[in-house]
Amino acid sequence: MADWTGWHEQYDDPASAMPQRLAAVRQQIVLALDRAAPGPLRLLSLCAGQGRDVLPVLATHPRGGDVRGRLVELDPQLAATARAAAPPSIEVLIADAGTTEAYDGMAPADLLLLCGIFGNVPDEDIERTVAAVPSLLTTGGTVVWTRHRRAPDLTPRVRAWFAAAGVAETAFVAVPGRAWSVGAGVLRAPSTPLNGVRRLFAFVG
Ligand SMILES: C[S@@+](CC[C@H](N)C(=O)[O-])C[C@H]1O[C@@H](n2cnc3c(N)ncnc32)[C@H](O)[C@@H]1O
Repeated sequence: MADWTGWHEQYDDPASAMPQRLAAVRQQIVLALDRAAPGPLRLLSLCAGQGRDVLPVLATHPRGGDVRGRLVELDPQLAATARAAAPPSIEVLIADAGTTEAYDGMAPADLLLLCGIFGNVPDEDIERTVAAVPSLLTTGGTVVWTRHRRAPDLTPRVRAWFAAAGVAETAFVAVPGRAWSVGAGVLRAPSTPLNGVRRLFAFVG
């Protein structure tokens, strides 16, 4: 079982690469809210951890009050931290985010966060999850994702899977000498209904 609490502590370690990754994810969330159409917005964050990427943005962005949604996180302690920081419009669900059951009533979302997932699941699970994005996201909605670039760097294939799913890339942030990367894109294809409950991914040890 991974130490996800310890993993989150890296966000507070200036010697780690993680504060920079966190800032890059937040920046893509800001840009997504900047370009979002007026009106209510729906957020879905899978494997949300403490919600440190999106919750501070919602607290400060002019569109933050328009957002309602769900953070799905399996670890009750991390979920409790997220819940303490979340506004009432954001539900924190303790559940397995790898199955579409956890998205009930929240998909398609206008903002979909797939951060900290793709480095922990098999390649075929990434491909399956990306292929499902048109059912998780509204047309015009933004997906933000992360993946390390350690060899063999899978990000070229991940980016191609997003393109094949109808997601037009708006950003791919990768800093030389750092393993992390952050991608973002807008769904340009029609959104399709989620039909029944399916497993998209499962974390591997
Ligand atoms: C690498 S961390 C990413 C946290 C957050 N998304 C971020 O980027 O700051 C992975 C998170 O996924 C959670 N997790 C692992 N398996 C999960 C599952 N099946 N369903 C929901 N959350 C899961 C862990 O508890 C951990 O908080």
